[in-house]
Amino acid sequence: MSIWKRVLPQPLSQPGHLPLRRMVQYIDHFMSQREMHRGIVGSPKVTIAQNFDNLLFPKDHPGRSKSDTYYCDSRTLLRTHATCHQNEMLSLKKAYWICDTYRRDEIDRTHYPIFHQMDAIYLINKPDEEVIAHMKAFLESFVSYMLKETLGQVEMRWVDAYFPFTYNSLELEIFYRDQWLELLGGGIIHQDIQKRHDIQPGWAFGIGLERLCMLLYNIQDIRLFWSRDDRFIKQFSGEVQLGDSVPKQMPFVPFSRMQPCYKDISFFVDDSGQENPIDAGRFDMNDVHDILRDYEDLEEVKVQDAFYHPKKQKWSLCLRLTFRAWDRTLENEQVMQLINDMKKQMVDQLGLEMR
Ligand code: DAH
Repeated sequence: MSIWKRVLPQPLSQPGHLPLRRMVQYIDHFMSQREMHRGIVGSPKVTIAQNFDNLLFPKDHPGRSKSDTYYCDSRTLLRTHATCHQNEMLSLKKAYWICDTYRRDEIDRTHYPIFHQMDAIYLINKPDEEVIAHMKAFLESFVSYMLKETLGQVEMRWVDAYFPFTYNSLELEIFYRDQWLELLGGGIIHQDIQKRHDIQPGWAFGIGLERLCMLLYNIQDIRLFWSRDDRFIKQFSGEVQLGDSVPKQMPFVPFSRMQPCYKDISFFVDDSGQENPIDAGRFDMNDVHDILRDYEDLEEVKVQDAFYHPKKQKWSLCLRLTFRAWDRTLENEQVMQLINDMKKQMVDQLGLEMR
């Protein structure tokens, strides 16, 4: 199934998105207390100008590459971030908006090609230092509102970052399970954007909602947001209690954690270059991920090995696949059937020679 068949009819519309929809009720509450308007966002198909050019992305920015972005045609793509709607929101002055976003990516427990982001803008006619101070205070209180009851006192730090459309850019990290985890990015809206729209200075920020929700409910696998299994969905059916902070969330209880099953598949890449074709950018692993993603019980794909086969004068790649279903033990025979089907797809769609 191609990505086009999965594009959401609207943001947060899947049954498994229930925990995200709940979380958004809390977010709406926080934002409304700060007089932020919720902006309405249209189709995920936007122009390259909206997604990149108007946000001052350099022509050679890696985010633009075909291996990271789903292009529709020479003018349009599936938005890779909620920031693509910033320009149309600026007249609201204080606003946030939420949308589905699309990126070609690897298969693992924290990446899925469709996810959700929230972006916001807050215009205040103040000098830069005050804009940044305001942004920091706002976002620290947002993170603390969201997570403090569930995680306990949240330790946070700001680190320098780069985004093409902001300056004095920063990322906010939180200390979680013994390491610093990047949670959101923000900065002062670039002067060129300010001038183009003739607006006051202000700050902007963006955050991934699945990641925040996984922290809030202790959800370990992003694929669960695509589950139709009642045992997952039912766990999020209680009342939403709006208050000064998001009340402690019952940690999500995985309804099963089956043993993983590992399988390797190897294939030749028609490539006689000196360097590993993945590192050299001559073979795009995301083409393989796009195919393998259709197999729901596949948890992770890792490149295990790459070597040059002198007789064949081709590169040989070996992938380690981790299979694990949420609700049942996979029999070896079933997995072998999946593997055979995957190999067929890789031959038919990518013209690869399997080993
Ligand atoms: N769009 C950025 C991303 O997807 C996140 C972001 C960073 C949004 C800074 C912003 C911002 O509005 O000011 O990684």
